[in-house]
Amino acid sequence: MDVISVIRTKRDRGELSPEQIDWVIDAYTRGVVADEQMSALAMAILLNGMNRTEIARWTAAMIASGERMNFDALSRPTADKHSTGGVGDKITLPLAPLVAACGAAVPQLSGRGLGHTGGTLDKLESIPGWRALLSNEEMMHVLDTTGAVICAAGDGLAPADKKLYALRDVTGTVEAIPLIASSIMSKKIAEGTGSLVLDVKVGTGAFMKNLADAQELAHTMVGLGTDSGVKTVALITDMSTPLGLTAGNALEVRESVEVLAGGGPSDVVELTIALAKEMLDAAGIKDADPAKALADGSAMDHWRRMIAAQGGDPDATLPVAREQHVVIAPESGVLTRLDAYGVGVAAWRLGAGRARKEDPVQAGAGVELHAKPGDMVTAGQPLMTLHTDTPERFDYALASLAGTYDIATAGTAFSATSIILD
Ligand code: URA
Repeated sequence: MDVISVIRTKRDRGELSPEQIDWVIDAYTRGVVADEQMSALAMAILLNGMNRTEIARWTAAMIASGERMNFDALSRPTADKHSTGGVGDKITLPLAPLVAACGAAVPQLSGRGLGHTGGTLDKLESIPGWRALLSNEEMMHVLDTTGAVICAAGDGLAPADKKLYALRDVTGTVEAIPLIASSIMSKKIAEGTGSLVLDVKVGTGAFMKNLADAQELAHTMVGLGTDSGVKTVALITDMSTPLGLTAGNALEVRESVEVLAGGGPSDVVELTIALAKEMLDAAGIKDADPAKALADGSAMDHWRRMIAAQGGDPDATLPVAREQHVVIAPESGVLTRLDAYGVGVAAWRLGAGRARKEDPVQAGAGVELHAKPGDMVTAGQPLMTLHTDTPERFDYALASLAGTYDIATAGTAFSATSIILD
């Protein structure tokens, strides 16, 4: 087999054979196929697509590149959730302990933020002492004793994807539905969860900008999971405006704790409960009531145990950025639009995210919103507060907020988009 013929097949809109796919994934993982060759193939896939058979084989080959985990020894059914990423998407933080409080085991292998979307591990690392890196034995122990674990995926899980994702990130080939679907599902299937709920985001702050693409991605991933014996369902949810009132690491932890304490912004609570219901249903757990588990403190108990089991202090004061800048509403009226992408880029530029994967993040940096679409605002009132340790970043962040919101005269009809779209 030679890599040029594999690239030519896809360049010329042909179908890759199972042998070609198995070979190219294995050879790339071993370093026999070079980055420039794989990036040519990724671009050919982005331009010409892959059919369902090819995507399934590509996913299987990426799973076969590493180890597979197994949770059969646990006494509870496993349920996992994956979000395709967005701005202010802290849902994993309250969701994992909530679903654990309702009787499932939640193995949540999560990632770090890159670009304008935040990463669950970066958020949790703002809690003093908390550790994202666990051995497989430690991960099993936390899961078994607290019902939920949120940690970094080990290097042994789908290593082909790790290499390919980093390459796609720097070659303009992230936004290919076959590559996104196989990347996400190879990790989830290798992780060994019994059931999986996908939160496919659509809108300016998401990878998928329109509903048709989000539906295609959801459909492809559900097919891959189901064919591999993982009970998989998908919700398509709105990412045209940030989720909740915060985007940034410690800011989002604080908001998640508010949700676990029975409060928090209504959109975060609604989506957390909706996803919890889907996860419990997929795991075959009937009669659980996630709203009650939030109200009666049992989800909070699970959160505290989960954080402590990974070295974190659930009572510690969260870091606060050294400098703040308040953005004022320029006029009175109704806030009709607040763009997720603009807010995400501002949080990123303030230091909440990283430009290169080796960059550090600031725990306290980010954007705090004081109004959401549909709210009345008065000229001069705070619209948002920007937080950073490095005030020279304010101008750069403010530039990304230009044109990201609209205020219409009071009385203008405003129809709220529901958070769950499909
Ligand atoms: N997240 C992933 O894990 N892979 C992708 O390709 C895109 C988002």
